[in-house]
Amino acid sequence: MHPPSHSHWIAAALTSLALSVCAGGCKSLPPSKPSSEWTAQEARGAQVYQEKCARCHYPTSTRGLHGPGLQALTKVKAMPSGAPPTDERLTEVILHGHQMMPATPLDDDQLRDLLAYLHTL
Ligand code: HEC
Repeated sequence: MHPPSHSHWIAAALTSLALSVCAGGCKSLPPSKPSSEWTAQEARGAQVYQEKCARCHYPTSTRGLHGPGLQALTKVKAMPSGAPPTDERLTEVILHGHQMMPATPLDDDQLRDLLAYLHTL
């Protein structure tokens, strides 16, 4: 039988192992802005995202769904295609689609709100 102190030691050792492995090599992305701090515009953009994008893209992960996860989308140097994540490029991809991604028609307000939201990711 393992005394409890023993399993605590194992847990502590595993935790520090994980931390030291990550300190060397984990590329951690900058955190998303918490929803409690969203502006009204960002919150409206999140709604647009839920309606139009969420079925194909995870917002808080880089894991793929139907399309790539969009965590930290506007904070990285390049998107999966290699293009920089400028508002111009995002607008182009959203309104006109890109390869396997269908075009998403949005009015100007929806587009502005969505872009504001994408900057929080
Ligand atoms: C039907 C699924 C689907 C929907 C809906 C969708 N996407 Fe995509 N998206 C994709 C796929 C698939 C790709 C990868 C396209 C490719 O081949 O480069 C992609 C790629 C992207 C990229 C990366 C572009 C690049 O240059 O690498 C962005 C940004 C993006 N989508 C944003 C959005 C946003 C914002 C919305 C909502 C308006 C949205 N997508 C809706 C499937 C979708």
